Amino acid sequence: SLKAVLCGCGAFLPEQILTNEDLSKRVDTSDEWIRERTGIRERHIASEGELTSDLATQAAKAALDNAGLTPDDIDLIIVATTTPDLTFPSTAAIVQAKLNAGEGAAFDIQAVCTGFVYALSTAEKFLISGQHKRALVIGAETFSRILDWEDRGTCVLFGDGAGAFVLEAQPAEEAGDRGIMGSYLRCDGRMVDLLYVDGGVSSTKTTGHVRMQGNKVFREAVTRISDAMVQVCAEAKVDVTAIDWFVPHQANERIIQGVVKKLDLRPDQVISTISGQGNTSAASIPLAYCAGVADGRIKTGDLVLFEAMGGGLTWGAALMRA
Ligand code: ACO
Repeated sequence: SLKAVLCGCGAFLPEQILTNEDLSKRVDTSDEWIRERTGIRERHIASEGELTSDLATQAAKAALDNAGLTPDDIDLIIVATTTPDLTFPSTAAIVQAKLNAGEGAAFDIQAVCTGFVYALSTAEKFLISGQHKRALVIGAETFSRILDWEDRGTCVLFGDGAGAFVLEAQPAEEAGDRGIMGSYLRCDGRMVDLLYVDGGVSSTKTTGHVRMQGNKVFREAVTRISDAMVQVCAEAKVDVTAIDWFVPHQANERIIQGVVKKLDLRPDQVISTISGQGNTSAASIPLAYCAGVADGRIKTGDLVLFEAMGGGLTWGAALMRA
C-alpha cells in the first residue's frame, strides 16, 4: 500500500504591508480594536498586477526547492483558492504553465478558508490510489481583491499570500510512520448566508465582495472545528493531546485559543502567524506550517494536526506525521 508523504513546503507573501494604523485611516476602526478582537497587527497585500497564480508559483518554487525536486517531477497540481486569476482556466493550469510543466493533471478546489484541508485530503487520495506520484498542493489567495474596503467588519481581517506542499506517494514500508494519517471534511450549505461573496459568474456577472455575519460565524467555529479535530484523531487512533503541533487556519486568535482550551492543548503547541498575516484564507495553513518548519519548531517525525473553517460553511481537519 501507498502513503502520501510531505517532502517539502514553501511560502510566499507579497512585499506590500498594510498595518492596522493604515486601516484606521480608511475606516472607523483602531489598532486596539483589531488586535484585541482578532490578534491581527498587519497583513500583506498583493500589488496591482500581482496575481494569485504569481503568489502560488513563488510558493510552489520554494516548496520544490525545499524538496530538492523540479517541476518535471510533479504530475498533479491542486490549487485551493477563492480568488482565481480568471473564471477559467483554473489557477492550477496557469501555475503549471508558469512552472513550465505540461505533464500530469491540474485543477482548483473551492472550499474558501477550508480549501487547503480539502486539497490536502484530495491529493492524498490521488496519491495513495497510485494514479499520481507527486503532487503540488497550493493554497493561494489575493483576498484583498474581493474585500469591501468600506466595511470595517471584514476589510480588517484578511490578507494575501500563498503556501505550498509537495507530497509524494511512497510505499508504506518506505514511509514508515510518516505521511497523511487521515482527514475529515464537512460542509453545511444551509449556512451560506453567514459568509459569502455577493457576486459571481452566473448570478451578477460581477466579482462581488465578501459579506459576513462575523459574530454568527464565530459562534459556530470552536465547536465544529474541535469536533473535526477529535474525529480525525479518533479515526487514526491518536489522542488529540498526543500531537506535537497544532497548525490551525488563521482566522481569529480568539477562535484558535478557544479550540486550544476546549481540547486541552498547550498554547506553546500552536503555530500562529495571524498577527503578521491576518486571514489569508486557503493559504494560511501552509504559510503557518512553513513558518514552523523555518524556525525549527516542526521537525521530521512530528505529529501535526491541521484544521479550518470557512464559507459554505465548510470545515475540516487533517492529521499528518511530518
Ligand atoms: N473596528 C471597530 N469596530 C468594529 C469593527 C472594526 N474593524 N468591526 C466591527 N466593529 C463593531 C461592530 O460594528 C459592532 O458594533 P456595535 O456593537 O455598535 O454594533 C461591534 O464592533 C461588535 O461587533 P461583533 O461583530 O459582534 O464583534 P466580534 O467580537 O464578533 O468580532 C470578528 C468581530 C472579529 C469579525 C469576529 O466575529 C470573527 O472573527 N468572526 C469569525 C470570522 C471567521 O472565522 N470567518 C471564517 C473564516 S473566513 C472565510 O471563510 C472567508
